[in-house]
Amino acid sequence: MTIKEVLDKTTTFFKQKGFHSPRLDAELILAHGLGLERLQLYLKFDQPLKEPELEKLRELVKRRTTGEPIAYILGKKDFYKNSFVVNKSVLIPRPETETLVEMAANFIESKKPLDGFHVLDIGGGSGCIGISLAKEFPEMAVTIIEKSKDAADVIKENIALNQVSNVAVYNLDADDIDTFVQQHTNGKPTFDLIVSNPPYIDIEDKEVEENVRKFEPQEALFADDRGYVFLKNWANKYSSLLNENGMMIFEMGYTQGEAILDHLTKLNIFKSVKIKKDLAAMDRFIAMAK
Ligand SMILES: C[S@@+](CC[C@H](N)C(=O)[O-])C[C@H]1O[C@@H](n2cnc3c(N)ncnc32)[C@H](O)[C@@H]1O
Repeated sequence: MTIKEVLDKTTTFFKQKGFHSPRLDAELILAHGLGLERLQLYLKFDQPLKEPELEKLRELVKRRTTGEPIAYILGKKDFYKNSFVVNKSVLIPRPETETLVEMAANFIESKKPLDGFHVLDIGGGSGCIGISLAKEFPEMAVTIIEKSKDAADVIKENIALNQVSNVAVYNLDADDIDTFVQQHTNGKPTFDLIVSNPPYIDIEDKEVEENVRKFEPQEALFADDRGYVFLKNWANKYSSLLNENGMMIFEMGYTQGEAILDHLTKLNIFKSVKIKKDLAAMDRFIAMAK
């Protein structure tokens, strides 16, 4: 069979399975399995494939048909301006989160020159937020906290892949702020910007796609107190580590805006608390200014 024949057959198969983007998925899987760029598939359309190559492709196609996300099969995901290694121990970076990075970048830009400017990213996952910011502003420092050891290892891989030298990663439980403060700060407000995309989904939420539930790490997705526990606790606790005129920006669920705004406003620890929208005009972020 030639590359073209396998591509057409796989596309038809994925179409029958009801996939959203059957041709693209087929191209990505073939290119990955054969160690080619997508464009090269078209240049080598008539190339016959050997049995070991076909066997490898069958295995990848099989994984996709179980619903495994394409990013885990490819082992990478493009996010913001860079590429990140991903595996099943980290959430696949989402397009909404790119808007958080943009908001954070605008805030950082407004604070130039950045001597001593320090960003904290809580719950780093693949490191996509902290590393994107670190790469954009190499003159500042970024600290990332991540509870999962496997995810922290992925962050280290992504630090190397993206060649950033201004990121420190700590494999810690962010709820234990005392240990973090003792070990890694001098106990005083230290950060000018704190960003987080915490787990914020209610375990009962019926809108969560089956394959998200099945393949992505539970501890990256779900949170107690109907999804609010980390949003509330981290905003409250970590505000003590925020410098005067600093900013916190957290991602949240699109239905959580009013409740979290009300909660954080009543805490009376921020100068202002504002809901920000994503590109689909949904409430998606909460920005807290100190
Ligand atoms: C929604 S994911 C976000 C990952 C990444 N920041 C992103 O935007 O793609 C939340 C991350 O928080 C981590 N996490 C959950 N509980 C934590 C805790 N108590 N302390 C530190 N990290 C935690 C999870 O392991 C997961 O990597």
